[in-house]
Amino acid sequence: MKNKNIIFSLSGSIACYKACFVISGLIQKGCSVQCVCTNNALEFIGKATLEGLTKRPVLCDMFEKEVYTKHIELSEWADISILCPATANIINKLASGIADDYVTTNFLSWKIKEKPYIIFPAMNENMYEHPITKKSLKKLKEIGVIILETEKGYLACGAKGKGRLLEPKKIIKTIEKYL
Ligand SMILES: Cc1cc2nc3c(=O)[nH]c(=O)nc-3n(C[C@H](O)[C@H](O)[C@H](O)COP(=O)(O)O)c2cc1C
Repeated sequence: MKNKNIIFSLSGSIACYKACFVISGLIQKGCSVQCVCTNNALEFIGKATLEGLTKRPVLCDMFEKEVYTKHIELSEWADISILCPATANIINKLASGIADDYVTTNFLSWKIKEKPYIIFPAMNENMYEHPITKKSLKKLKEIGVIILETEKGYLACGAKGKGRLLEPKKIIKTIEKYL
């Protein structure tokens, strides 16, 4: 894991706080981690936390002058790309080829056949079981995206069921396996 470059994308899920433990674990193992966030991810977690952990500015706005074309450079720089947590929204967008923010544009510039792109979904069970989400997950798997199953358990909406983000230790182990 030492000296590996990781793109770590976050989307707007309550599980963003868990992703911070993953990022911290990766940094402690000697990886360089570049966070990319949707606008909605930043409703759940602050830039200061992510920047404090990674020592790198969070990428979110495609049109900030300093980061022009960085979404392409980043894909060349990274050994692996992680999307954690992945919302139903972002999964459905990726499967449709939509590229309207940093996370989705970065996905489209990723050479999926050459380097791993791993998705860790997190959502309410109804969203996870929705036929549209299921179709999108299938479509992404077919083109070579690695998608981890969620865990069953307590969900932030108060219900129990599928859709819970894997525990940070399991996520780190999975990333380690693919690096
Ligand atoms: C408190 C709260 C928690 C949420 N948690 C999730 C979640 O875990 N998974 C999910 O798919 N959507 C969740 N949502 C809904 C998403 O934030 C919403 O669909 C948003 O548009 C996702 O945007 P993004 O995919 O661009 O980040 C949550 C919304 C709120 C208000």
